[in-house]
Amino acid sequence: MTTSLSPDQSAPKDAHADPAAPVLFFDSGVGGLSILEPARRLLPAMPVVYAADRAGFPYGTKSEAEIAARVPALLGRLVERYRPRIAVIACNTASTIALSAVRAALDIPVVGTVPAIKPAALSSKTRVIGVLGTEATVRQPYVDRLAAEHGADCLVLRHGSAALVSLAEAKLRGQPLDPDVARTALLGLIEQPGGDRLDRVVLACTHFPLVEEELRAAAREIGADSIQFLHGGDGIARRIAFLNGDHPWPDTPPPGIALFTRMDPDIEPLKPALTRYGLPRIDIL
Ligand code: DGL
Repeated sequence: MTTSLSPDQSAPKDAHADPAAPVLFFDSGVGGLSILEPARRLLPAMPVVYAADRAGFPYGTKSEAEIAARVPALLGRLVERYRPRIAVIACNTASTIALSAVRAALDIPVVGTVPAIKPAALSSKTRVIGVLGTEATVRQPYVDRLAAEHGADCLVLRHGSAALVSLAEAKLRGQPLDPDVARTALLGLIEQPGGDRLDRVVLACTHFPLVEEELRAAAREIGADSIQFLHGGDGIARRIAFLNGDHPWPDTPPPGIALFTRMDPDIEPLKPALTRYGLPRIDIL
């Protein structure tokens, strides 16, 4: 038996062909804006939903079990609500713990954010590289594998800093910043054995490129200004463009949406920064 649609029925909307289907960016907080920015630069017509899991923030001090239980289910709800064409987990903690579970749960392409150890190892002259992430990220086997695969001849030092995550959140709220936070985070790598030879630091938390200026100032102050900081934002932008293929973008992108998983007093002071990132509309889940 064959079936056909009667004239008053419309075919189900295919998110992959609809020019208005957004790209969904997901993080615990504002960190993913460091991933959104290069993606927008490359794909200016991209409709955007930026989801920040305020109700689960911060991820970096949580257990693997908590992240694994939370992230795939939450992304499932967001995909149902916004019908994105691609989901980007703009968070190293969630990606290094839950990327394969999210991919298994969703029927759209999922881009993860993993520490840029490969380019750091390729370019390091001293063969000592640092991975600065959340406490949860730096202890992941995923990071061990990247270090073994790409930096087998390097000393790969790691340090987790929750304070640097808070510094980035405070910066985007326009609050005064404590310069000690960036210095302490950097010293967490430099003061380890071999750390005096460090020449590359991988910013393995998406919040950290937002405070790269503060990290550079701290490096200068410590006398470690030969350190170069790396992160994966440009590579993720290219990956989104590749996965999108020839699916059309709208002629004029709609105003971006910032979605928060709970209403809280920190949202109001973030509004000017969200508008600068092209996210003037606020939704609450
Ligand atoms: N931005 C996140 C990351 O890339 C996590 C920050 C947090 O919630 O601790 O790891």
